Amino acid sequence: MLSHGLIDVACDPTPTAPSPADAASAAFTLDLVTALAIRPHSISPKYFYDTQGSELFDRICELPEYYPTRTELAILSRRAGEIAHQMGPRAEIVEFGAGSLRKVRLLLDAMEQPARYLPIDISGEHLARSAAALQRDYHGLDVQPVVADYTQRLLLPAALPGAGRRVGFFPGSTIGNFGPQEALHFLQAAAQVLHGGALLLGADLIKDPAVLHAAYNDAQGVTAAFNLNLLARANRELGTDFVLEQFAHSAFYNAPQQRIEMHLVSRRRQQIALDGRLFELDEGETLHTENSYKFTIDGLCALALRAGFRPGPVWTDEDRLFCVHWLHAPGA
Ligand code: AVI
Repeated sequence: MLSHGLIDVACDPTPTAPSPADAASAAFTLDLVTALAIRPHSISPKYFYDTQGSELFDRICELPEYYPTRTELAILSRRAGEIAHQMGPRAEIVEFGAGSLRKVRLLLDAMEQPARYLPIDISGEHLARSAAALQRDYHGLDVQPVVADYTQRLLLPAALPGAGRRVGFFPGSTIGNFGPQEALHFLQAAAQVLHGGALLLGADLIKDPAVLHAAYNDAQGVTAAFNLNLLARANRELGTDFVLEQFAHSAFYNAPQQRIEMHLVSRRRQQIALDGRLFELDEGETLHTENSYKFTIDGLCALALRAGFRPGPVWTDEDRLFCVHWLHAPGA
């Protein structure tokens, strides 16, 4: 049962507080102004994910060139029994991000009496929809969506009486969209909230740059549309007038940094009006929109150890494209 509806742990309502939509719009304006004012220009990839952006991302996950989603699904599907064994009976899953329900279903189907599912996401609407869809298929499961920014300090509901392990689930190599320091901070915070339990972490592995290049430069141009949606979203929400045709999608593998970088390249010298100010972009100047770090298994284990986890089994595919790590949290 969806027993307690949405839990909003990030909200501190006061009579003068702006609405969540106004606060989100003010934050986007501030971050875009900052991005355009500093050089090199750079903005958080979180702004990709409005409704259109989330739909485009879902399409990316189905693309022939974008191997991470189907590879991780295959690993989870093949190893679900072993993962469920690690979880033990009456475990609860805390998913960081509303996530693909396909992935968590693979776990729930293999688990022995899953006790509770706590998906955490900043987007209340998307979260409520995903949670309701899951609840329809798992009647006996206690589904408690938590509206919060999981990169900030988290307060989760207390453990259920008689509950088993609390297991964090962070699939999709979303950890790769953090910088190294942010990834460490995220893992340190996760180690605290998962005390006594574990984290199941999916991550993309370093591989032939040609394979990486194709995954972020698909033939149908869906990734390009996803990248450009950041500007389209600014036009919709902030009233900017970015001309999308005047920007080109660029994605390349930066080998020394072990990451894919996505940029929007200005095709010509142009001016952008935002928040009562005018910003200049030169021809060829870029707005850096995303980093997607790639990992080695050893590198990820070392990072997890630094954050306080004890690395456990690692599952990968035959071509070693992707890996899924079981990490014991402190106290486990
Ligand atoms: C969500 N994240 C792990 C994706 C990635 O591969 O870094 C986002 C993405 N960007 C372009 N394609 C997919």
